[in-house]
Amino acid sequence: MLKSHSCGELNRNNNGQIVTLGGWVDRRRDHGGLIFIDLRDRDGVVQVVFNPESSKECHDIASQLRNEYVIQVVGQVSLRPPGTENTKLPTGEIEILADTVKILNTSITPPFYINEDIEIDENLRLKYRYLDIRRERMKNNVILRHRVTKMMRDFMDNRGFLEVETPILIKRTPEGARDYLVPSRVYPGKFYALPQSPQQLKQLLMVAGVEKYYQIAKCFRDEDTRADRQPEFTQLDIEMSFAEEEDVMQLIEDLFVKIMEEVKPQKRIIKPFPRINYADAMERFGSDKPDIRFGMELKDLSDIVADCEFAVFSSAVAAGGKVKGISAPGCAGYSRAQINELNEIAQGFGAKGLATIMLDPSASSVEELTSETIKSQIAKFLTLEQIKEMAKRLGAAPGDMLMIAAGDDATVSNVLGRMRLEMGNRLKLADPDLFAYCFVVNFPLFAWDDKTNRWEAMHHPFTSPKEKDIPILESNPKDVFSQSYDIILNGYEVGGGSIRIHNAQLQRRVFKVMGHTDESIDQLFGHLLEAFSYGAPPHGGIAIGVDRMLMLIAGETSIREVIPFPKNQNAYDLCFNAPDVVSREDIDVLHIKLLDEQIEE
Ligand code: AMO
Repeated sequence: MLKSHSCGELNRNNNGQIVTLGGWVDRRRDHGGLIFIDLRDRDGVVQVVFNPESSKECHDIASQLRNEYVIQVVGQVSLRPPGTENTKLPTGEIEILADTVKILNTSITPPFYINEDIEIDENLRLKYRYLDIRRERMKNNVILRHRVTKMMRDFMDNRGFLEVETPILIKRTPEGARDYLVPSRVYPGKFYALPQSPQQLKQLLMVAGVEKYYQIAKCFRDEDTRADRQPEFTQLDIEMSFAEEEDVMQLIEDLFVKIMEEVKPQKRIIKPFPRINYADAMERFGSDKPDIRFGMELKDLSDIVADCEFAVFSSAVAAGGKVKGISAPGCAGYSRAQINELNEIAQGFGAKGLATIMLDPSASSVEELTSETIKSQIAKFLTLEQIKEMAKRLGAAPGDMLMIAAGDDATVSNVLGRMRLEMGNRLKLADPDLFAYCFVVNFPLFAWDDKTNRWEAMHHPFTSPKEKDIPILESNPKDVFSQSYDIILNGYEVGGGSIRIHNAQLQRRVFKVMGHTDESIDQLFGHLLEAFSYGAPPHGGIAIGVDRMLMLIAGETSIREVIPFPKNQNAYDLCFNAPDVVSREDIDVLHIKLLDEQIEE
């Protein structure tokens, strides 16, 4: 090795040792006589001192050094003179008195500062990701990713799970997104698909008797990127034979508690992780991924306003819809402009409008409110009693603002669920030291899709219905519940899974409810149904979105920050400039024709 120690590992215990270091010039300070170099490697930064009186030659080389040059230094570890210690630096008590220095490579000026934690255009960072990863923030995220995936592997190994690799070139695996397709050279006109997840493969491994499988698996989904979504992402993918829902959830709870205790010991978690019914999550939080770090729960106000004079409310109820509300604490003083802004946000979420009622803080309690201490454009259509009833149901106090929406249940819940997050965020209601995990359980098996006009699987089509609902599968699909669960962290879905169907006939029935014919079932899923006929054990599992989980643990707001080489917001790889054109020969060999205007000669 060209180095005996790493820069960051040195401290006062090394005092007097001769060390050979290799790294990058983080900063150079020329004090006329002495030259100071902060030398950086993966483990940290150490100060190197070049004294012209000890070695003129060495000092001359040091004066040529520029940021990001790669150098090798031999020198003696020495305690810094009293008063010059740097308490902010782990190596701040010592410095290296350089004897020799060699320039191993030079560097042109980087497009951004490596040694400063400043905002830099993300596309520039992604183009020069190899420089970005030299920076403290990205380096720490890369290290965190290594530590957490290693913990996952160790934990799964301890629990008797085998890591099995599964292929990337397979057949379409319907998981709700669009597939990435790979044209076959050998089979003209045919395509492989990249796996949206190893779902069917892990089920085949259960038929194969592997019993406990896991994999840190790459998944590919051709969907629009978002802050918490990438076209290519990583799952901790798990499958167990002879397991029931609670077994899988308990395994995940144990794993997450262990990870949190090791990487975020200073944060609080709620144990055991609450199990929340899907219906309750929708009712209370307007979302199937509830952020339970704060209250401000949605409440149904329909019965209070069913006969009121405000037509928007009463007609919504009459039409079978709902009137629901939340109470934003301390917001009674919101200005007209602020209320207009909230209205616009709510409309962006699909609301027709958002009614607000301000409860003046001068009243000593909700009971004491009068028509003078209530401010609202709709107050004239409501009785004082109705307003007080609503305020009480929403748990409001004088000083609060009631926010109310009316319409069909799904839209109202969704809008208020999102307004709840908006207000929670504005009012900083979530405790930043709390990591709130919960499981959402008891999902319906199907959801009606207006676009395709048929029942779609709410999770994926391999999910088992609850045993008791199997008889009503065809007659009443909307009332069939599934044996599935999502794991939520701070309002993000970080994983999801289910107990699977392991019986070929039942699997065929579920596909048929979803509109498949026997022919399409055989063509798309024949391999799986055939496998089920050879003694498939009962099985179930889950997949954790590793990137999403790491984003939350790292305190980042985009998963791109925890992925070493992500695509940008437009699914483009700026480092490699991919996707890219390929030659006409490469295309011809795949038996594919491009439109003339797509060919670059
Ligand atoms: P699901 O589709 O819910 O389930 O995916 C599991 C978890 O993967 C993460 N995830 C993503 N992360 C980043 N970018 C994406 N585009 C993306 N899509 C999903 C989420 C999600 O909760 N085979 C099933 C699992 C099973 O049933 O065992 C599956 O893939 O955190």
